[in-house]
Amino acid sequence: MKFSTKAVHIGQEPEETTGAVVPPVFMTSTYAQEAPAEFKEYDYTRAGNPNFTRLQQALAALEGGEHATVFSSGLGALTAILSTLTSGDKIVAVDDLYGGSYRLFTKVFERFGIEPAFIPMQDLDMVDAALAERPKMVFIETPTNPLLRIVDIAAVAERARAVGALSVVDNTFASPYFQNPLALGADIVWHSSTKYIGGHSDVIGGAVICHDADFNQAMGFARMAVGLNPSPFDVWLMSRSIKTLAVRMERHAENAAAVVEFLSSHPRVKKVYYPGLESHAGHAIAKAQMSGFSGIVSAELDLPLEQTKRLISSLGVFTLAESLGGVESLVDHPATMTHASIPAAEREKAGLTDGLVRFSVGIEDVEDLIADLEDGIQREAG
Ligand SMILES: Cc1ncc(COP(=O)(O)O)c(C=O)c1O
Repeated sequence: MKFSTKAVHIGQEPEETTGAVVPPVFMTSTYAQEAPAEFKEYDYTRAGNPNFTRLQQALAALEGGEHATVFSSGLGALTAILSTLTSGDKIVAVDDLYGGSYRLFTKVFERFGIEPAFIPMQDLDMVDAALAERPKMVFIETPTNPLLRIVDIAAVAERARAVGALSVVDNTFASPYFQNPLALGADIVWHSSTKYIGGHSDVIGGAVICHDADFNQAMGFARMAVGLNPSPFDVWLMSRSIKTLAVRMERHAENAAAVVEFLSSHPRVKKVYYPGLESHAGHAIAKAQMSGFSGIVSAELDLPLEQTKRLISSLGVFTLAESLGGVESLVDHPATMTHASIPAAEREKAGLTDGLVRFSVGIEDVEDLIADLEDGIQREAG
């Protein structure tokens, strides 16, 4: 079965008792038991729910994994993964990553003795040096947020495996439609399904997908023990959204490519970050490990910072907001919004400048998107 067919049918089968083509929301916290501790499949929704099961089947199929566990948020998924570690364990992560992941590593788990190191994973010598410290897990994000850098998943996963470390990939930016890290040798994939998987900016969620049954069991344990469960209604919305993932991703990518073409040729744009550009340092790897370049574009405008900020606040079709991956186009100022939790010195070291702007290109008519950007630049640059 191909991706689009899986997206519409797996975990989406009609409901057994009534034949309802769209399965209902099992909006229940608990389940009747036949006798004390005697129940069929579910006892309490923090531990499991039929809507969770259906979404997990869909996500496992779309990522090409054996198992999946759904969570209340992307960071809930990352918390579950990190909760399998023990004080004294080391981890390595890519140095350009979502600010909230950085905050979870440094402000929460580091206090419990999990030692993080952040490295530019494009440099495989640095990967080797970090692996010599015997970390337990290697956290890859590719394309990275917000600089759209590319990490060679197969190369890093192979090196991690050789020293007994698990490779963990945040696949949020590519979505399972454009990239499947497990097929490239990674051990674990996680998502902020708030983004492309949900796709409508109306629900927060996360997921972990893997081949290993024991690791998946640990994810189920973490969800139940730590309280990382989503709401059945949110999960139902995710299952609804997944059916259109393929068509949405095609349109996001097509629109993003056109926005990149516009920005790249504009005299008031200094630099465009997009892995689909042949001039992008990671283009060849991106082309090999992704089937499309997704819908996020970052850029530095040739304008003073205050004018850049005014411009992105005044756009008409792009909305200034955190998050990405929804049908509506959004614009973000990473240094003060999504990545403000990373100290300025660390941001600078990773190349994340104060002038950087990140666009999440939606599925609107691309002519309206380009006109909106053109008018905005014209207003500020004259
Ligand atoms: C790449 C990436 N990973 C993880 C997350 C965190 O996900 P959530 O907001 O669902 O907790 C985000 C959120 O912006 C993200 O952009």
